[in-house]
Amino acid sequence: MKANLELLTAGQVNNRDEVLPDHNCTVEYSSLGTTITVDDPGMSLLEAAVKNRIPHMQECGGNGRCTTCRVKILEGLQNVAPRNGLESRMAKRRGWDPSVRLACQTKINGPVRLERQIKTFSEISRLQEEMIRAGKGEEKQLAILFCDMRNFTPFVEGNMAYDVVHILNRFFSALGEPILMNNGLIYQYVGDEIVGVFGLESSDNMQNCLAAMRAALGMKAALEVLNKDLQQEFGIRLEVGIGVHFGPVIVGKVGHPSHQQFGIIGDAANVASRVQSANKELQTTILATDNFLCQLPRGTARVGKAEKLHLKGKGAATQLYELTGFDKEDDLFLVQKTTGALFSEEGAFANAFYECLFAMAPDTQHLFKGSMERQGYLMGHMLKGAIYALSRPKNVTLGFRELGRRHAGYGVREEHYLVVRKALVGTLESRLKEDYSDRIRLAWERMFDLAFQFMKEGAAGGDKPAGDPQKNAGK
Ligand code: HEM
Ligand code: FES
Repeated sequence: MKANLELLTAGQVNNRDEVLPDHNCTVEYSSLGTTITVDDPGMSLLEAAVKNRIPHMQECGGNGRCTTCRVKILEGLQNVAPRNGLESRMAKRRGWDPSVRLACQTKINGPVRLERQIKTFSEISRLQEEMIRAGKGEEKQLAILFCDMRNFTPFVEGNMAYDVVHILNRFFSALGEPILMNNGLIYQYVGDEIVGVFGLESSDNMQNCLAAMRAALGMKAALEVLNKDLQQEFGIRLEVGIGVHFGPVIVGKVGHPSHQQFGIIGDAANVASRVQSANKELQTTILATDNFLCQLPRGTARVGKAEKLHLKGKGAATQLYELTGFDKEDDLFLVQKTTGALFSEEGAFANAFYECLFAMAPDTQHLFKGSMERQGYLMGHMLKGAIYALSRPKNVTLGFRELGRRHAGYGVREEHYLVVRKALVGTLESRLKEDYSDRIRLAWERMFDLAFQFMKEGAAGGDKPAGDPQKNAGK
């Protein structure tokens, strides 16, 4: 008996994968330059991060499904408990080396230094590529989007290289966001062209085309916002042509063995590119093929011009439709369209929200114990992340349930949700200014109600399915 106890001294791992406490269980975040202490041996790295208010991606709320909480252990791997079954399966499927660990599944028994691997929404989007294994081609049905910048050549010729690259990067960044918000992958940039693909990890063709449609319309809206600034700063207005198509392609990792890249090969990609070019001839901004539109539920898209055109390399003429909007307003699209403006200034949304909340309900102030600056950052980041994650409904549901469970621990009760909802809507109005409308408010209210519904379920410890937030948000 004594021998057994000696074997399980502090900081060791027993044969049931349990970790015993060590007097020095610390986590150093390499890029943050912050070190935290894990004072509870049963605590995962993610739980320790949340407790210490370290910003950490956790789309599925620590359920071991999204992999966004992954970290790379830079030092102290010997102090990390072995992978559990869930994490082992995940690591094998994705080909991780032993230093890559899921923070939500990992416990430690001594000091470690680590780096969070996913810090941006673009990095989340790239996780889709990871499931495509080297050397294995796969046929997939994808929605493919090509977006080409028009009238940029005269600007390139007459301006300094610095300005040209600056504008290109602003263009890519503003127009890339709608792809990322819709679970699309920014596949590549070709000159001043962006290519996005939708459907790498899901075979729900209808949702994938809906996502591509939201992205295409979102890019057009984002360009309008960008043009206001470019007009003022450089006296230019950019225009785009966007083509969307749906069809089969082969996806795989291709290239020299030392430099393999994710690639898409197939006629559908060529067609999408040519559809994009056809905008010049038809003098349109967004064109979709028949094949794309017929994946959507009847009455989803509002179309303008309809033309049959001979696309280069195609024998028969292709039926094309000008895509002008949603036939019936789409909540998720409206929320996405206004997200950029709401979160354009770091911390501004959260500051305005807490000001509004504490003015409306001063008694909620005592619930907040830590730094309000840190709190504002975490809250704003989580809310923005949830909007991006709405296109991955299963993860976001789990994430909000877990957030609700934690909030019950912070003393948040049913009645607080009502006043927070009011304060959030008040903040929307003050931040969106002329972009605010009753329809925009309704779309956001439905989003908040859904989030609160999941949070309350989490707080109640309920596990009843709350439906698909994507479908609900689109109502
Ligand atoms: C859209 C819904 C909400 C989001 C996205 C959100 C987000 C967050 C985040 C990210 C944190 C940091 C800690 C953690 O991750 O667990 C937090 C803490 C907290 N939130 Fe929320 N929250 C929401 C709703 C609410 C509501 C309805 C209340 C009610 C007053 C509330 C009150 C608090 C309090 C008291 C804390 C702890 C602050 C502290 O300890 O200093 N939150 N929230
Ligand atoms: S896998 Fe860890 S938070 Fe989702």
